[in-house]
Amino acid sequence: MPSMFTVRDPVVHRALRRPVAQKFSMSSIKSLEPFADECTKIFVDAMKDLEGQQIDLGAWLQWYAFDVIGAITFQRRFGFMEKREDVQDMIGGLESGLQYAGIVSQVPSLHGWLMGNFWVSKFLAAQPFFKVADPLRTMVQITQECIDDYDRQPQKLGVRPDFLAWLRSKETKGKPMSNRDMMNHLSNNLLAGSDTTAISLRAIIYYLVPNRSVYKKLQKEVEDADKNGKLSPYITYAECLELPYLQVALLMKVRT
Ligand code: HEM
Repeated sequence: MPSMFTVRDPVVHRALRRPVAQKFSMSSIKSLEPFADECTKIFVDAMKDLEGQQIDLGAWLQWYAFDVIGAITFQRRFGFMEKREDVQDMIGGLESGLQYAGIVSQVPSLHGWLMGNFWVSKFLAAQPFFKVADPLRTMVQITQECIDDYDRQPQKLGVRPDFLAWLRSKETKGKPMSNRDMMNHLSNNLLAGSDTTAISLRAIIYYLVPNRSVYKKLQKEVEDADKNGKLSPYITYAECLELPYLQVALLMKVRT
């Protein structure tokens, strides 16, 4: 299925983008903050619970990012943080899928040959690299379940601010968006928004932690703002904009 990421024709790209562009506006994205907050609560509670123990923070940040994307896309977390594991091997599967794509996409015609040839595909399937679950299948399945669940509750039309509800409320020439287009846009979010957000969070922590002067200055700015009653329990985007060191100095200094 051609998506905003794969399509090369600018006219088709514009047509795919038009119905969803508004949902990515700043005011619309801000309405999704409560979904991130509920995930932040689970994350913070887990960190408190695990205090003093060794954890893989990189994995936790990835679980957090995936759960946030699930929550904003269709109000359903994948449950990585609650289960404290890579649910249905989705993250591991994406990782190996991307490794495969990274190599094979250099010679795209190889893909048809590798997958179309019975013996080659059998050989590949036996490799540990290929033994992980198919993450796309799982994601598509979850997305379809969420669409079906939503359709069973039509009274909620237009009330929920998540992507699924928003797309369902959209009509073109009096017709609702097709199931195929819904799947396309919703699964795009999962693929585009999870790894990117996870790696950004990891990079921030990775560069911040060893850079003690930046870390301390940032911590002081946050604590001072908190003491002065300028921060909500889950700091909002608007509140972050009032923290100048976080805004500018952090991004520049952490990198140097
Ligand atoms: C820090 C996190 C993120 C980074 C670094 C990132 C990066 C990018 C980049 C580089 C592009 C390509 C832009 C272009 O070719 O013009 C892109 C496109 C896109 N991203 Fe993100 N992204 C992030 C988060 C997200 C999230 C959270 C979502 C959805 C919930 C998302 C959805 C999309 C979509 C739908 C497109 C396609 C836009 C189009 O083709 O018009 N991204 N992103």
